[in-house]
Amino acid sequence: MKFFVDTADLEDIKKLADTGLLDGVTTNPSLVKKAGKDFLPLIKEICKVVDGPVSAEVAATDYDTMIKEGRKLADIADNVAVKVPLTPAGLRVCKELSDDDIAVNVTLCFSASQAILAAKAGASFISPFVGRLDDLSSDGMDLIEDICTIYENYPQWDTEVLVASIRHPMHIVESARLGAHVVTCPPDVIYKLYNHPLTDKGLAAFVADWAASGQKIL
Ligand code: E4P
Repeated sequence: MKFFVDTADLEDIKKLADTGLLDGVTTNPSLVKKAGKDFLPLIKEICKVVDGPVSAEVAATDYDTMIKEGRKLADIADNVAVKVPLTPAGLRVCKELSDDDIAVNVTLCFSASQAILAAKAGASFISPFVGRLDDLSSDGMDLIEDICTIYENYPQWDTEVLVASIRHPMHIVESARLGAHVVTCPPDVIYKLYNHPLTDKGLAAFVADWAASGQKIL
């Protein structure tokens, strides 16, 4: 399973890259607004920090502007994945860019039928938003299960299931259980994966006993 971080904060991305576990980055217009930096140079910087795919989202919603924006974003670096919304125009852009070997992440997916369309349009990634479904009393992980099952029936589809809108570690554990290819997580959720009180307690005991033994490794 690949780990992407869902942020446009360069310092957070650098810190997570140091873990050696980071496979990519997703951004969106809201995250870029929060970062408060110029979009295009920011994406260029992020692409230097992370070797894997860096999703950069088009701003327009009409085909003519989206396709121009998508091509401009793809020119920033080889590892840019152009993010487009799951609309008829967005999927038309997806098909055209994918046919030109540009990676496309189709975002704002909330149904299995939408995920089928994205795969047919040649998307590299489909981003179902689990947290936003949970917020509406609908189980987001049920959607991940449906999409994974459907995609397994069509091995010729290369689209990876990128679980988005993740709110807590169990979204990641469930995604792994279902065989989703990628999770994109806010930084704090990634750090939470490391935590267990028995690890802290056990380590404290080992450190104390080692000190009491008077031995050294180095
Ligand atoms: C995905 O690419 C989106 O940027 C993101 O996961 C949305 O998450 P949110 O619902 O927490 O805004």
